[in-house]
Amino acid sequence: MKTILQKELWSISSFLENKNFLFDENKILNSLPKKDIDEAYSSISSWKDYSPTPLIELNKLSKELNLNKIFYKDESKRFDLKSFKALGGAYAVEKVTKGNKDIVVATATAGNHGRSVAWGAKRLGLKCKIFISEYVSDARGQAMADLSADVIKVKGNYEKSLIECIKQSTENNWQIVQDVAWQNYMLVPMYTMAGYTVMMKEIVDQIKNDKITHIILQAGVGGMAGAMIVGIARYLKNVPETIVVEPDSAACVMESIKTGKIEKIDIKRESLMGGMSCGEVSLVPWEILKNAVKFCISLPDDDIAKTMKLLGDSSFSEEKIIAGENSAPGVISLIASCLNDQIKERLKLNSKSNILVIGCEGDTDKEMYQKLINQ
Ligand SMILES: Cc1ncc(COP(=O)(O)O)c(C=O)c1O
Repeated sequence: MKTILQKELWSISSFLENKNFLFDENKILNSLPKKDIDEAYSSISSWKDYSPTPLIELNKLSKELNLNKIFYKDESKRFDLKSFKALGGAYAVEKVTKGNKDIVVATATAGNHGRSVAWGAKRLGLKCKIFISEYVSDARGQAMADLSADVIKVKGNYEKSLIECIKQSTENNWQIVQDVAWQNYMLVPMYTMAGYTVMMKEIVDQIKNDKITHIILQAGVGGMAGAMIVGIARYLKNVPETIVVEPDSAACVMESIKTGKIEKIDIKRESLMGGMSCGEVSLVPWEILKNAVKFCISLPDDDIAKTMKLLGDSSFSEEKIIAGENSAPGVISLIASCLNDQIKERLKLNSKSNILVIGCEGDTDKEMYQKLINQ
């Protein structure tokens, strides 16, 4: 494997240390209170077919990089949806409808969030309206229609689909279940994040006596990263080095942390890391991320396909892991950081380090997965 790691170029586009870093546990748990975190775990863990997703040790990779342990949270096994997103939208549907079967839920989506909402609605026997832009693939639209949702295609981009969703929902009295917050729309995104914190509860139960020293978190609008930081405050005794990773074409968390306020990115090129290709961090996670993230890394798409392949052919672990495009960046950031002496030192990565990376999704788009690993 030495040859694989050294033969290939593993690149980071930019690296930033947050000058406003301060991990204030009380402030974090004010943004997402303990009671909501605990309620999410007790509800979701009682759902039919619930079981914790595996935490896999990338033992071959940790040996090669001279690190103590690397833990990979494998969300490809999350219910039937093969992504951590199953925890968020579906839980928010349950919370906002509170057992009322007459409520119609609606959302605008690029894919995975809508699948979670549609799945959550189906579980509870509710009607569901999904708004997608003309750029969302037919396969993704069909996946939501297969979950009995009405899928409405809107001309234009994601923003246009959200505007249409809000318009029709207001006219018809449908309940919007969106994962992104805006002024006066914070509660549902908060429930979505509360659902994601279940991952951290499972991880804490799975690692037993090991202490996590580093955690690498992918970000799109920041919901998942924010939720995991909340999970650290709620469940861990120590504060690991927190690192957010984003595509270099859509590094909205990094740019916002640089200036200390929300910055909007004009996305010129859509990243292969589709779920992470977001131009603006959401309000609820921003309040958490702005201080609690210590480092930001942005990556080009160059190493995604080979990392998916190496995870898939058991080069990094004893078992084969099905990792989608959004699952690769944690592993790539770690390898690239270890091969760069300066960054390795800044992150304090050494033979005592136990790093947690999040395998957010499996082959949620089967065709794309096959195409990439066969490259
Ligand atoms: C499929 C998918 N969608 C979206 C995201 C981003 O999540 P968020 O928008 O909550 O930051 C990820 C991972 O970061 C992902 O794997």
